[in-house]
Amino acid sequence: MEGLMHSMFEPLRLASGHVLRNRLMFAPLTTQQSLADGRVSREDRHWLAMRAQGGFGLVLTAAAAVTADSRAFRGQYGTYSDAFLPGMTGLAHAVKRHGAIALVQLQHGGGRSLRTAGGALAPSPTPAARAANRGDLAEVIDAFASGAERSVRAGFHGVQVHAAYGFLLAQFLDPQANRRTDAYGGSLDNRARLLREVLAAIRTRTPSAALSVRLNFRDRGLRPDEMLALAGELLVDGAVDHLDLVVEHPAVFEEMEAARPTWLRTLNRRRGVLGLTGGFSSARSIEAALESGADLVGIGTAAVLHPDLPKQLLAHPGFRSRTLPATADYLAERGVSPPFLDYLADWPGFVTEADRAAA
Ligand SMILES: Cc1cc2nc3c(=O)[nH]c(=O)nc-3n(C[C@H](O)[C@H](O)[C@H](O)COP(=O)(O)O)c2cc1C
Repeated sequence: MEGLMHSMFEPLRLASGHVLRNRLMFAPLTTQQSLADGRVSREDRHWLAMRAQGGFGLVLTAAAAVTADSRAFRGQYGTYSDAFLPGMTGLAHAVKRHGAIALVQLQHGGGRSLRTAGGALAPSPTPAARAANRGDLAEVIDAFASGAERSVRAGFHGVQVHAAYGFLLAQFLDPQANRRTDAYGGSLDNRARLLREVLAAIRTRTPSAALSVRLNFRDRGLRPDEMLALAGELLVDGAVDHLDLVVEHPAVFEEMEAARPTWLRTLNRRRGVLGLTGGFSSARSIEAALESGADLVGIGTAAVLHPDLPKQLLAHPGFRSRTLPATADYLAERGVSPPFLDYLADWPGFVTEADRAAA
């Protein structure tokens, strides 16, 4: 049992050469606490520094917008201007000084962007968005690569490309949202073309940076077998150093295990490592994922509730996260700022009813 408990604290080396001090990733969490003009705030720094100090090996920022028009949230910071560099530099420093590897999550909101009146882009037209043309796609690719370049200039070790949860790159992957008949629609290869081109452009512009991608095992119209095929290819051919596969919930992880019992174990790991995120809230569940063949585990909710979750796991081998809902005071003590509390109050069951009413 003891040998087992140590595995989450074993360092992990990425193909980029960066070494994570353990197998625990702080998942990307939107906090809506950045400044209205797209700059990083003091609250952003405090929030992430607490998680890095708490011992996470890999720390992801909140989703950052790669263009002004593709912001998907209020209070979201951006990577599309040099004016943001000082704030980004402060954020990178706040995480790195505590020994974590720091990645910016790069996002294009696509059809989920706040600006919809003709300004939002999607693979195929929707009531809120127009279909992206070739010129738009070239701009999208350049925006991701510029965002990566700026992140590295700010001192981050690299970036994660957000291709999950129905934002632009996930919409391209999804055959229901992507009804294109050009080279970016149709077969899985075609639907993944934009993602591939984004990843390749980032590699070219930031060759020594750590490159991660986030996919969702169950993303709308994309079949699980297609998702696993794509994930396997991206890892095997070295398109990414880390693939963060969201399984959302223990039941989804079990479903994946049942459908492909050997997938995690037999996947070729020469070029990239595979992490799972979703529903991990105890030492036991984390160890089970690592035992199943995951290289690392991403943690969101339990890391909101326990900024020092890795330290807790080390000190208490049977550690379990406390359960939701949490009070506003409890969350404030753990770095949740007032705008972030407002956002969390919209998530079912996160904040106690009494405090939701007050938020
Ligand atoms: C408040 C909140 C904000 C989130 N923001 C993001 C985000 O910016 N980018 C992203 O890829 N996922 C985001 N997620 C999803 C988490 O990263 C994670 O995949 C999900 O919460 C499942 O993990 P968990 O069960 O450990 O919370 C968010 C989740 C929560 C609860």
